[in-house]
Amino acid sequence: MSHPFPHLLAPLDLGFTKLANRVLMGSMHTGLEEMPDGPAKMAAFYRARAEGGVGLIVTGGISPNRAGCLVKGAARLDDEKHLDRHRPVTEAVHAGGGKIALQILHAGRYSAHPDAVAPSPIRAPISPITPRELAHEEILATIEDYARCAELAKLAGYDGVEVMGSEGYLINQFVAPRTNHREDQWGGSAKNRARFPVEIVKAIRDKVGADFIIIFRLSMLDLVDEGSDWPEIVALAKQVQQAGASIINTGIGWHEARIPTIATMVPGGAFAWVTAKLKPEVSIPLVATNRINDPAQAEAILAAGGADMVSMARPFLADAELVKKAAEDRAGEINTCIACNQACLDHVFAGQMASCLVNPYACRETEMVARPAAAAKSVAVVGAGPAGLACAATLAERGHKVTLFDQHETIGGQFNLAKKIPGKEVFGETLRYFASRLAKAGVTLKLGALASAKDLAGFDQVILATGISPRTPEIPGIDHPKVARYIEIIEGKVTAGANVAIIGAGGIGFDVAEFLTHAHDGDYAGGWGIDPSYRHRGGLTMPLPPRSPRAVTLLQRKNSKVGGGLGLTTGWAKRALLIQRGVRMLAGVDYEKIDDQGLHIRMGEERQILPVDTIVICAGQEPRRDLLAVLEAAGRTVTLIGGADVATELDAKRAILQGTEVALAL
Ligand SMILES: Cc1cc2nc3c(=O)[nH]c(=O)nc-3n(C[C@H](O)[C@H](O)[C@H](O)COP(=O)(O)O)c2cc1C
Ligand code: SF4
Repeated sequence: MSHPFPHLLAPLDLGFTKLANRVLMGSMHTGLEEMPDGPAKMAAFYRARAEGGVGLIVTGGISPNRAGCLVKGAARLDDEKHLDRHRPVTEAVHAGGGKIALQILHAGRYSAHPDAVAPSPIRAPISPITPRELAHEEILATIEDYARCAELAKLAGYDGVEVMGSEGYLINQFVAPRTNHREDQWGGSAKNRARFPVEIVKAIRDKVGADFIIIFRLSMLDLVDEGSDWPEIVALAKQVQQAGASIINTGIGWHEARIPTIATMVPGGAFAWVTAKLKPEVSIPLVATNRINDPAQAEAILAAGGADMVSMARPFLADAELVKKAAEDRAGEINTCIACNQACLDHVFAGQMASCLVNPYACRETEMVARPAAAAKSVAVVGAGPAGLACAATLAERGHKVTLFDQHETIGGQFNLAKKIPGKEVFGETLRYFASRLAKAGVTLKLGALASAKDLAGFDQVILATGISPRTPEIPGIDHPKVARYIEIIEGKVTAGANVAIIGAGGIGFDVAEFLTHAHDGDYAGGWGIDPSYRHRGGLTMPLPPRSPRAVTLLQRKNSKVGGGLGLTTGWAKRALLIQRGVRMLAGVDYEKIDDQGLHIRMGEERQILPVDTIVICAGQEPRRDLLAVLEAAGRTVTLIGGADVATELDAKRAILQGTEVALAL
């Protein structure tokens, strides 16, 4: 039988060097770059991906000078003294059989320090800092800094560099009329605005010679007003090719764009069309990017001829061996990135180290190591939600004899609800992954019946991962027939009416609002105002969100902004989506009673009745520890993990990490 991914696994000849396959690991700043022991950690992190078969790795963004650092003290490569932090990384990747390029990223006006510079002194809407305008001589010096950085990268052993020209950073700021109001040779006409990146690529090629990979990450879709138009993007691509670039990678959306481009709600491969649109215009290899998270989808993009390579960034946090598994026809074993951003981008934006919700080993390769157990024990894990799954699989892989109990017929716990939320279907992939791990490791499954203390009697060790119970708030009338639990709504046991109030605006409240307002005829691009025909600059058009089938009000007791506690990098998009659909959001609400008229609330002195048909309760949860007392009374030592341990919010990131750590320690 022929291989399922022939295009993906085909080598790519760049003339002076050959890549093993068509997979590029996209650039991710992980926070390891700045840590004192970062080089060793990065070496282990990247080596695992090289051994996992990635064709070409790109590092996280590194600044070519002090001004270009995103924050004060961020990693830069502008002096030979920095080389020692890079050599362990390049050596490890080469030892793992891979190739690696350093990404050069100058943040321009996105720099969060007072020395930020830009082509024009225009503050970004997402930054409090107005940048200083670069003088002509400083522009020449900055170009020289890029070239010097590339030269140092070569000395450090990198196989190439990627010039970061997208996402609204300095190069993008020169290219787009939105941010470049100069009247000298670096501004005004499209040719002048493109001069900065073109001169950078030329200067780098001059410094590094012909046999060094230069990737240019080109913003093909700015998604902001006064961004580039399509003819300008084509012209820049051609000039960059002419100037000596070896590969053009795709960049989508500036950071200040108000359109989600990488969140779970973005359909897989949603931007492959823009790379395909550029394909006939250039002859060097093109890379498609964003939300490509499985080999079948990548194969389809390559087979259609719209790109020569695919970039996957977060999918390599989720699974270092993605390519190897695809090549060995074990795609069913891939730990798929669910695009939640919870442990990667949210961490980086909060100044913490990135990792991965579904793969807590990511960036912790030196400290989290699964070694064979010193003595095999028989272990009962009760509860097959994320914590129990991670714990059971890890224990069994280490050689313990594991039985996993769950009262439901299927594994997955709350993930079975999450995967029913429109746009979150990919959560089902995590369950497919864990099912394959459990089977491979030989975990015994006892599903479909509540475990009793008697069932657990013969085990050396019991781990309770019994999850949570939804909390019922004390509101007069809470037993009224209008009231439904969120589980009943998501499982389809109760159908909500046309007018709905949701009590509780945490992650679950938002998910339920999404579930209830989702229109089945909606398309992502049209809904957010993305125009593939590019009639206007930035690729923007009037958003045409589909109409919600229901009127929904989302309420919370707290006075803070509704949705303020959601993920740093995705919360705004979830809010924007619901606002588009007309969802009312009320904070500082006291719930007075529920009766036939609806939900009676008070906000400060003002009382009102929401005349709703259905009231959905999403008011938090409590740990579920049914078996704990009886096991402890019998003198058993019990370990609690996941929601059964702490149930403040549903937190799969904490659950999977804790389940894994407990299993590694036994
Ligand atoms: C934690 C994190 C850090 C990132 N850092 C960079 C970066 O330094 N430079 C860059 O060009 N893109 C960066 N990106 C964006 C990725 O390269 C990529 O465009 C994005 O994650 C979408 O692709 P994916 O769906 O394959 O993850 C980062 C993404 C993440 C999740
Ligand atoms: S944390 Fe979420 S988005 Fe980030 S890599 Fe892991 S699964 Fe993907």
